[in-house]
Amino acid sequence: MPSLLPWIPQPTDDGSFTFFSEEFGEAFHSRQGAKAEAFQKFAQATELAQKAQKNHVRLLDVCYGLGYNTAAALETIWAVNPTCHVALYGLELDATVPQAAIAPPLLASWSPTVQTVLQQIAQTHTCITPRLTATLLVGDARQTIQTLCQQVFQADAIFFDPFSPRRCPQLWTIEFFALVARCLAPDGRLATYSRAAAVRSAMQAAGLAIGTIPLSATHLPHEWSQGTIGSFDQQTLPTLAPMEQEHLQTRAAIPYRDPTLSDPADVILERHQQEQALSQLESTSNWRRRWQIQ
Ligand SMILES: C[S@@+](CC[C@H](N)C(=O)[O-])C[C@H]1O[C@@H](n2cnc3c(N)ncnc32)[C@H](O)[C@@H]1O
Repeated sequence: MPSLLPWIPQPTDDGSFTFFSEEFGEAFHSRQGAKAEAFQKFAQATELAQKAQKNHVRLLDVCYGLGYNTAAALETIWAVNPTCHVALYGLELDATVPQAAIAPPLLASWSPTVQTVLQQIAQTHTCITPRLTATLLVGDARQTIQTLCQQVFQADAIFFDPFSPRRCPQLWTIEFFALVARCLAPDGRLATYSRAAAVRSAMQAAGLAIGTIPLSATHLPHEWSQGTIGSFDQQTLPTLAPMEQEHLQTRAAIPYRDPTLSDPADVILERHQQEQALSQLESTSNWRRRWQIQ
């Protein structure tokens, strides 16, 4: 049985906790608040409160981790419609993460009902109640997503939350987004915290229209967006600012590629670097100077 010791809870600014991954060299959430991030960048950006007015909502949580995006989604949906049935799939590589996340200080952020759901999912990888059918698929999401494609699972909302592209490029490629897009319902929304041009162009290459997640009232001076929304309907999305649109014409917008959906991170990064070096697109430093971005 894997040790739970590596996962030491670290407080974030809103009082909720996160973990730090030594393997990926990154925290699981924004330091400004793990719980706040789950509500703003995922539950709100996918318009779950509106979707919860239906009797049934389908969710896909890519990189389930501590389960915060799932938890914020369930809190949002059941606050609007307590009888709404939720079908949920979570994809996660490391089962020790959700297990470590059900230790006492970490669960306290959530309602008793949602705490029970997170415990069940962590312990048995499933949770079935009259208003929830949840399954956690453990393994590399590049493989586990294929089960969902075969089942023609169609999510109303997809939470897309891997470590950053430089740390985990294998989950930000055109090929992986293409599989994820197959699991998005025609009127569904995908949300991610990333505003990187390479991520946005990979989403577009996978057939998604993209919009920005507008800044919240409190944001750091260098920020211009809280992330990206993908859907099949451009009309319904918050438009990218001219500065963000020009970002997509620079070398930063060259997407990551993983033709066989099995390459290690270093191979994907090297391929990306080579493609950037040969590119005739405008340099990203020019774009930064033009828009006075540090
Ligand atoms: C930024 S954290 C996700 C945080 C999570 N959404 C939450 O609310 O706690 C990234 C997660 O992706 C998982 N992960 C890394 N590589 C993966 C892969 N190839 N397939 C599936 N999950 C992966 C990590 O174990 C980690 O739990």
